[in-house]
Amino acid sequence: MKIGVVMGGISSEREVSLWTGQEMIKYLDRGRYEVVPIVIEERTDLITQVQQAGIDFALLALHGQFGEDGTVQGVLETLGIPYSGSGVLASSLCMNKQLSKVLLKAAGVHTPAGLCWQGMDDYDPQAVEQLGYPVIVKPNTGGSSIGVQPVQNEKELLPAVQEAFDLGEEILIEPYIKGTELTCPIMDGEALPIIGIRSAHSEWFDFKAKYEVGGAEEKVIQLPPLIEKRVNEAALTSYRQLQCKVYARVDVILYQDIPYVLEVNTLPGMTAGSLFPKSAAAAGMTYSQLLDRVIASSLH
Ligand code: DAL
Ligand code: MG
Repeated sequence: MKIGVVMGGISSEREVSLWTGQEMIKYLDRGRYEVVPIVIEERTDLITQVQQAGIDFALLALHGQFGEDGTVQGVLETLGIPYSGSGVLASSLCMNKQLSKVLLKAAGVHTPAGLCWQGMDDYDPQAVEQLGYPVIVKPNTGGSSIGVQPVQNEKELLPAVQEAFDLGEEILIEPYIKGTELTCPIMDGEALPIIGIRSAHSEWFDFKAKYEVGGAEEKVIQLPPLIEKRVNEAALTSYRQLQCKVYARVDVILYQDIPYVLEVNTLPGMTAGSLFPKSAAAAGMTYSQLLDRVIASSLH
């Protein structure tokens, strides 16, 4: 089978996507697959390159807009090329944190309260005051913590909001929940071991903590069984409610034993230091086996 590893792209997460793609290329089993790297530089590249390469399957190493948000999935559906992971609807829903939160709440999943602003006309410091400082300001459709900023007071609010608007048309403002950061990888609708995260240099899991060697301590966390069950249930309900398929990673903050779901990542990072492969390894799955599972399940 000829597998195209689709990576790069034009989102703010391009670099992370290239790291994910390189790692996938390294571990794809050459006994099973012929591997073609497909590096996307601009929008139209996807169609031309995928067709020229004549691939049987697109292994998506893309992250963020035009990759993880349903657009690439729609193009591949139209071209009749099977691809990895969730379909169009789940991908677009999960990329939109605000819409995800509405659906998560409807399913009884806890998620931080939040304000969603669609432009500077919505700027309303009083509403933020009511939410209570500190808050987290982030682009509504971003990833990898790019543009995510903790804001302590009203003075810091305006520059943070402006910066977040530079990265997307909508921004989200949430109360900063000082709990334990967890992530719950899910494979074929089943929970893999939960990873606990402690950043080495900052209070929260920012870009540096995510991707620098030694940037964070990330390891399988042993929670009391009842709490573990609660976290897994929240993650699995989120995965199902947002119609995810094959695999996804649900990011959670545990505060006073309540899991608050921050978001669901439909194409989770698969770089050398990423959380999903780490959890899969703890479950006894090598990176190559994980890719085999993702491919087989996507083709199912
Ligand atoms: N958006 C990054 C790649 C992640 O969630 O892993
Ligand atoms: Mg994300």
